[in-house]
Amino acid sequence: MRCFIAIELPPDVRSTLERLIRSLRRPGRDVRWSSAEQLHITLKFLGSVSDADIPRICEITAAAARAVAPFELRLAALGGFPSVRSPRVAWIGVDDPAGGCAAWLAAADSEFESIGVPCETRPFHPHVTLGRSKSPAGNRLLGSSIASLAPPPAIRMNIDAVTVFESRPGKDGSEYTPIARAPFGEA
Ligand code: 2AM
Repeated sequence: MRCFIAIELPPDVRSTLERLIRSLRRPGRDVRWSSAEQLHITLKFLGSVSDADIPRICEITAAAARAVAPFELRLAALGGFPSVRSPRVAWIGVDDPAGGCAAWLAAADSEFESIGVPCETRPFHPHVTLGRSKSPAGNRLLGSSIASLAPPPAIRMNIDAVTVFESRPGKDGSEYTPIARAPFGEA
């Protein structure tokens, strides 16, 4: 199955981001916008893994989470990958002043090598994906949508758990199903 580890967003933050996405939306099919259910902060993308490895993945996730105290995250500025002018992905950045996301990743990443998932070599850039372009016209549309918007209001959230997700292709983009949740900090 296709699998990744992410932070789920509280319902009020999802609603705020859903409104933000509504204000960014333009007519057309060149961009696939995230639904409220799809919004999350990926910590580690594992890709295709064997079902037999799921218990180990959940163990690694939980052990790394126990070593990190619950922390606060803040939503920051809008941006785009690979560039803000012509993005394939539009996102809202995440500030992690206590370094909780990076600390979980540092504890878990090398452990995932035991199931054949290489450590991340690119710098970790926590974000919530808002929309994905499906064409060059989509890149332009995403770029102008991001540029048109005033900086979003500061949103803070207390993060007390991390979630292992299965990702399956659905008719409106990927469907993400939580497999297991692991609390941050000592139980
Ligand atoms: P994204 O939000 O930046 O698109 C489920 O697909 C999650 O895993 C998404 O949040 C996505 O990140 C991330 N993801 C998908 N494919 C990936 C890849 N090849 N490398 C890193 N992250 C990936």
